Amino acid sequence: MRDIASRATRAARLHDIGDRLPCHCHGRIHIAILPAESLPSTHATPALYRGGSQNSPMSHVIAIANQKGGVGKTTTAINLGASFAAAEQRVLVIDMDPQGNASSGLGVDARATKGSLYGVLLDHVPLGAALVRGAHFPLLDVIPTTQELVGAEAELIDQMDARFRLRNAIAGVRDVYDFVLIDCPPALGLLTLNALAAADSVLIPVQTEYYALEGLSQFVEAIEAVRHHLNPRLQVDGILLTMYDSRLSLSREVTADTRAHFGRQTLRTTIPRNVRLAEAPSFGKPAIVYDIGSAGAQAYLALADELATRSRRRTHEPMLV
Ligand SMILES: Nc1ncnc2c1ncn2[C@@H]1O[C@H](COP(=O)(O)OP(=O)(O)O)[C@@H](O)[C@H]1O
Ligand SMILES: [Mg+2]
Repeated sequence: MRDIASRATRAARLHDIGDRLPCHCHGRIHIAILPAESLPSTHATPALYRGGSQNSPMSHVIAIANQKGGVGKTTTAINLGASFAAAEQRVLVIDMDPQGNASSGLGVDARATKGSLYGVLLDHVPLGAALVRGAHFPLLDVIPTTQELVGAEAELIDQMDARFRLRNAIAGVRDVYDFVLIDCPPALGLLTLNALAAADSVLIPVQTEYYALEGLSQFVEAIEAVRHHLNPRLQVDGILLTMYDSRLSLSREVTADTRAHFGRQTLRTTIPRNVRLAEAPSFGKPAIVYDIGSAGAQAYLALADELATRSRRRTHEPMLV
């Protein structure tokens, strides 16, 4: 899938010539950038990750995690999800942070939906009954989250399968999606452990700022522990440098340090600091819909391309922490 960017640009052209289809997303009208009926048979044949692990014959589950807040996890979940969906991949974004920013950033009002992640984790509601379909793109679904999730960790703690609730829920949709992206909260608690136990790989956004690397080695060690105790197939998709500002020597230094320390685990794509990425969520839109020409939208399209290529390579040469 080298042509994610060109497919998405074609999608944007459809958008420009006024091929605007109403797409209901809980009371709000959005633009369906790709008409669903024009899509090829990706619903029947996932194009990517077909060579995944035995437990994941089809979809690829990516936890977007870092115990630090404000590093770009949610921005990455929203925009990577939209980039894959624009390239005709079937995507589910699971909002695992009680703040609900991934839901609202995709234009989903979690208070108005019939289900949410809380019901999935606490009441064994199937994912299919809790999702919102077609957020901006026909192939982009969302499991929204409400503040209720704040109490979930305390309520789950004495349950035998507390760390595997999400994994068990995702098992039911592995043949439905090409990608499942999990936006984790900024902590290494039970919610993030659920995400890591469910995931095939973890993507770690790191802000190119002071103290960026502080705690990162411990986080990578924690992933190693998760692999030993909870999920032997978990791999590191990579470290994603975010909010990069080429004018700042600090940004350049942090980038050089990260590449020196983590080598090829650092993704080639770097996400620039870009005001459009910061503005878009307040309109409930991914950057690719808000302003596809912006440097931020283009960087996330490049990231989608890189991850797809990495994954294809990984099927031949497993990448380890
Ligand atoms: N590349 C970027 N350029 C500009 N602002 C960004 C960028 N990435 C994230 N932001 C902004 O930084 C803040 C934190 O990002 P967010 O994705 O919510 O981080 P996290 O989910 O890790 O807490 C948000 O206000 C977001 O809009
Ligand atoms: Mg977040």
